[in-house]
Amino acid sequence: MSAIKLRENIWSVGVLNPSLRIFDIVMESKYGTSYNAYLLTGEKNVLIETVHTDYFDEYLDNIRQVIPLEDVDYLIMNHNEPDHSGSVAKLMAICPKLEIIATKAGKKHLQDITNLDLPCRTVAAGDTLDLGDRVLEFIPAPMLHWADSMFTWDSKNKTLFTCDFLGAHFCEPTMLDKNIHAKAAYEGEFAYYYAGIFGPFKPSVLAGLDKMPADVELVCPSHGPCLTETISKAKECYRTWSTPAPKTQRTAFVVYASAYGCTRTLAEAAAKALEDEGYAVTTADVTVVPYAECVKLAHEADVLLVGSPTINRAAPKAVWDVLTSIDPINLKGKAAGAFGAYGWSGEAAPMLHTFLKGLRYAAPEAPFRVLFTPTQADLDAMAEYAKSVAALCTVPVDAPKTECGKWVCSLCGYIYDPAEGDPAHGVAPGTPWEQVPSSWSCPLCGVDKEMFKKAE
Ligand code: FEO
Repeated sequence: MSAIKLRENIWSVGVLNPSLRIFDIVMESKYGTSYNAYLLTGEKNVLIETVHTDYFDEYLDNIRQVIPLEDVDYLIMNHNEPDHSGSVAKLMAICPKLEIIATKAGKKHLQDITNLDLPCRTVAAGDTLDLGDRVLEFIPAPMLHWADSMFTWDSKNKTLFTCDFLGAHFCEPTMLDKNIHAKAAYEGEFAYYYAGIFGPFKPSVLAGLDKMPADVELVCPSHGPCLTETISKAKECYRTWSTPAPKTQRTAFVVYASAYGCTRTLAEAAAKALEDEGYAVTTADVTVVPYAECVKLAHEADVLLVGSPTINRAAPKAVWDVLTSIDPINLKGKAAGAFGAYGWSGEAAPMLHTFLKGLRYAAPEAPFRVLFTPTQADLDAMAEYAKSVAALCTVPVDAPKTECGKWVCSLCGYIYDPAEGDPAHGVAPGTPWEQVPSSWSCPLCGVDKEMFKKAE
């Protein structure tokens, strides 16, 4: 790709990699990607970002198409992951007088990545760089998606350089969203990129959106096309995807594999126990329910129970595939446990238990195991184990907002209020009437739940 003029004195000097199919080991890139970099020209010349080290020569060629390399004054590093900082050391070897600009965290990352003591000015919120004919403002936006992340704002050209934020792994040779032919494909990749890179950092995304200047007309990310006509829609998507839905009930996911039905029987007992605890429970056999759906449910669950038989001294691959896909960033307050039936040595449940604890779920002391076919006593113990895991969950729930969720005891007049629940008898605040276990009874007079009537 050659240098592309995006606006007066703003050039794209990055590179395309249309054949890449796996980015950073874990992300699929069906339509390749681009390592974007930008050159601002004027009284002072500024590079924003470098590119993956494999594409350094093409990057230099692009810069030289616009100005001589020695005329570049500054290198702004909005984010220093090696797909962007990979050519910094090579560039500095050619242009030792360049001054690098990054956040404090960015400077440290850069030093640790290059093992060089580079000339780097650190900037904080509100700091500016006067280029004579325009002033750049730096807007730190931490955890988008590293601690070092920041935006650079060119108010004269109403252009915001956002690094990974609002990017996508997608090759658009013209570097502009308005020229994309396969718009649906781009939108799919835009959503996939958000989910993979920013999904774990939703509060930071909302903070980042609020930091974007209202009058931005051009967004220049570090992967995929620049945004012009899609800025509003992209921001709206990010805000929707990052805004938590009201939560009035805790959720549980019981995911398992079962060769001969023994672990399945345990899973069913666990699910029933969690339903009785007021959880919205989903159960899935990993050999039946698609892997991606299992991962999604695992991410959504406040309580996760993983069941597996032991095959060749381990859990089968399908179980590990789900567990190793769990993003450990947002597990605060969540609880998990492992269980399984086994025939000889029974290593699977302890292995899964150790892994779950390593992810920092709240977890009981030990997993739950049963030798071969569960007895009724085993199933009762499984239910107690599931409840003990649920008891470790501290994810908050929102109180229902309507008064009409109250129910009144037809015998003694006691009123069940979902906002208060009945914690003394195992019903958490925020539990709607429909989720109160059928075994619950009136705490005043002891009659069954079915003796209650909806409050007027
Ligand atoms: Fe594209 Fe976080 O690097």
